[in-house]
Amino acid sequence: MKALYFDEFGDNSVLQYGEVEIPKISRDQLLIKTSYIGLNFADIYRRRGTYHIEKRSPYINGYEALGQVVQCGENVKNFKLKDRVFFVDVPFAEAEYVCVPAEKAIKVPVGLDSKTVAAIGLQGLTADFLAHDLGNNQIGENVFIHGISGGVGQILAQMLTADGMNVYGTTSTIQKQQLALSQGAKKVFLRNTDWKDASFANFATVYDGVGITLKQSLELATNKGKVIFFGMAGGNPPLVNPLDLLGQSKSLLTGDLWDYLNSAAERKHRSERLFSYFVNDKIKISEPTVFPLAKGKEAYEYLESGKSIGKVLLLPEDH
Ligand SMILES: NC(=O)c1ccc[n+]([C@@H]2O[C@H](COP(=O)([O-])OP(=O)(O)OC[C@H]3O[C@@H](n4cnc5c(N)ncnc54)[C@H](OP(=O)(O)O)[C@@H]3O)[C@@H](O)[C@H]2O)c1
Repeated sequence: MKALYFDEFGDNSVLQYGEVEIPKISRDQLLIKTSYIGLNFADIYRRRGTYHIEKRSPYINGYEALGQVVQCGENVKNFKLKDRVFFVDVPFAEAEYVCVPAEKAIKVPVGLDSKTVAAIGLQGLTADFLAHDLGNNQIGENVFIHGISGGVGQILAQMLTADGMNVYGTTSTIQKQQLALSQGAKKVFLRNTDWKDASFANFATVYDGVGITLKQSLELATNKGKVIFFGMAGGNPPLVNPLDLLGQSKSLLTGDLWDYLNSAAERKHRSERLFSYFVNDKIKISEPTVFPLAKGKEAYEYLESGKSIGKVLLLPEDH
């Protein structure tokens, strides 16, 4: 089968596309033939060697894809051949075939097409735990999202708006600003110019997946408010002294999706809650940008550049 892989950590030049062996399933696994593979910032951190990674040589990157069941292990009861499933926490996904533990496979919901579900998957489940496990805001509270038109940002912003919060945020361009406003944000600041004007709004929660902005996030949060740090798309965050937080009763929370997806029941419950927003027309995301898996290098470059709007998907040859 064809796959995107690397042998050593580094910049984009370490990525290679070529032939590797089709993996063999165990009794509790499914073999999935991928149709759409999700590219995420975590894949960039792993390629750089700065994130947790499952050792293997050559290393096939990626943890998220959607596809069809083509083989079932003998212990698997709840899936059958041709079922459409997706997964967000299984290694070696940037390939035509992936071995997926049955408990990590999530059935594609009826009424949503494969491309849309592939574009929602990991970023949507992230938005879900950020909103419902960490944010837990009251109706009418003001919240702020850095990178509001990114993949996580678009879904999080509309989810919070649907839940009754007033959503504000930053973007880098007017095009991204207009998109976030059209998706229901109250006000969107351009990050390189006017974000400081946002300090009027007493934000109960500030969502920061950009990283280098952490100090600004702590300033934007109101006393007794919280900053939720969940990623570093813009670079590692500065060190924070807890004493500075104590003086204003501010909290700094963090979270990793995988700690929330710790059973098949959690995956089912969380994805049903997430997809209900889409089925009920509460969230609409921008069209994903699609690259052939063979051009994976260009897809990584595009995501890393910060130019992307919403999801980046990779398409295997025989899609
Ligand atoms: N904790 C978890 O479980 C979890 C799960 C998934 C993702 N994440 C994290 O969530 C964050 C967002 O992920 P995503 O998938 O939504 O990515 P994304 O679509 O690329 O969005 C990231 C946004 O960050 C902004 N940004 C600011 N400075 C940037 C820079 N120097 N380079 C690139 N982007 C920059 C960009 O918006 P503007 O150009 O408008 O500023 C971009 O839209 C990432 O840090 C990712 O690692 C965390």
